[in-house]
Amino acid sequence: MTAIHPSILSADFANLASELARIPSADAVHVDVMDNHFVPNLTLGLPVVQAIRAATALPLDVHLMIDDADRWAPAYAELGSESVTFHVEAAVRPVQVARDLKSHGAKAAMAMKPGTALEPHLGLLSELDMLLIMTVEPGFGGQSFMDEMLPKIAAARRASDDLGGRIAVQVDGGVNSETILRAAEAGADTFVAGSAVYSADDPEAAIAGLRHLAGS
Ligand code: DX5
Ligand code: ZN
Repeated sequence: MTAIHPSILSADFANLASELARIPSADAVHVDVMDNHFVPNLTLGLPVVQAIRAATALPLDVHLMIDDADRWAPAYAELGSESVTFHVEAAVRPVQVARDLKSHGAKAAMAMKPGTALEPHLGLLSELDMLLIMTVEPGFGGQSFMDEMLPKIAAARRASDDLGGRIAVQVDGGVNSETILRAAEAGADTFVAGSAVYSADDPEAAIAGLRHLAGS
């Protein structure tokens, strides 16, 4: 099932409630949490994600680009996020983090940077509900999709299929009307799009266009 998750990183942070109201057909809202340590950028943290939770009925897909995921991730699940994604590079005990997220009622997702190989981490997959293959270096919106990640997306798809196809394969970074088909053909089913949605005059039309191009 194709899912489109607009990233509010490209929205107007001074008007988040009205920006959220512009994307009612989104499958979830992608919220990028950055700490200026794990990535060289700083966005928002728990209090703002709590406010976002209260401001929309859409499911929240929280993407944690922060150090010390073991410590912080469960609180994002507890506030009512649909899914919480931690980076494998930032977790000391990723299995425990995934279990903590699920015990707090969220789907557990794990992300990997472009330079992180998938194979050493395949054993973690059975603990997860979603795997995020980054298609840019995390930290900023508006970057170009890295085509060299397509084989990694395909490998993630195969690994998910081997486990019955239960684990969603998400891509994040540079997803737009030019690139989404390649990502979908490689096997991604869940697409984060920041600038492609929020830079459009009509975000709802952009979402519909992406969904159509991705094949459903
Ligand atoms: C980047 C973030 C992305 C970002 C994507 O590190 O994780 O979610 O918002 O933005 P676009 O779609 O513009 O590449
Ligand atoms: Zn993201």
